[in-house]
Amino acid sequence: MKKEKKISPSLLSADFCNLSRDIHMLESAGADLLHIDVMDGHFVPNITIGIPVVEAIKKNSSIPCDVHLMIEKPERYVESFVKAGADYLTVHAEACTHLHRTLQHVRSLGCKSGVALNPHTSLSVIEEVLEEIDLVLIMSVNPGFGGQSFIPNTLNKIKRLKQMIMEKGYNHIEIEVDGGIKLNNIQEVAEAGADIIVSGSGIFNGKPIETIAEMKKIING
Ligand code: DX5
Ligand code: ZN
Repeated sequence: MKKEKKISPSLLSADFCNLSRDIHMLESAGADLLHIDVMDGHFVPNITIGIPVVEAIKKNSSIPCDVHLMIEKPERYVESFVKAGADYLTVHAEACTHLHRTLQHVRSLGCKSGVALNPHTSLSVIEEVLEEIDLVLIMSVNPGFGGQSFIPNTLNKIKRLKQMIMEKGYNHIEIEVDGGIKLNNIQEVAEAGADIIVSGSGIFNGKPIETIAEMKKIING
């Protein structure tokens, strides 16, 4: 049976004064995950939200939380974010000195382990840790801000990642793609091999409910 592809709307583009309203709207629109962007002002120039907000979101939602940590030394906060309600916890390979240990730690807490790769980072950095990974997040923009343009070389990178995980027999690993994805390019991202598609401005800067329905139609036929 073909696996359904998922939409993970990025809350970075939501109205932070009406987060609860926006989350309920995403639920009714059929969003599969809630993408939560955590930024520390060091790994990326921007600062967003932290542990208490993830906890509040978890209490107010029935959709699994897909937490994307754009922070230095994420191993310091793994336990706190899992406790706060992360269902997927993704760390950047560039921010981890001991990536293997950090992924094992995430999994040992009963959470899905994710590794994010910046546009300049080669797929080779995850080759030796595939057995500890549940999800690979391919960044299709340089992390830090919503509303940037999709980097075209990403399509080739997704295809090569798909090939690598199939060849090595890790078919359960999900491929997530994040940054600059909208109605006009979502099809090629899905066709390249993405299982989970993140979209922030592409959903919130228009009609979110209709856009999610349309995106799901495009990626799942
Ligand atoms: C960027 C974040 C993304 C961002 C995506 O650093 O990781 O999740 O919110 O936003 P759009 O879809 O607007 O590029
Ligand atoms: Zn993100």
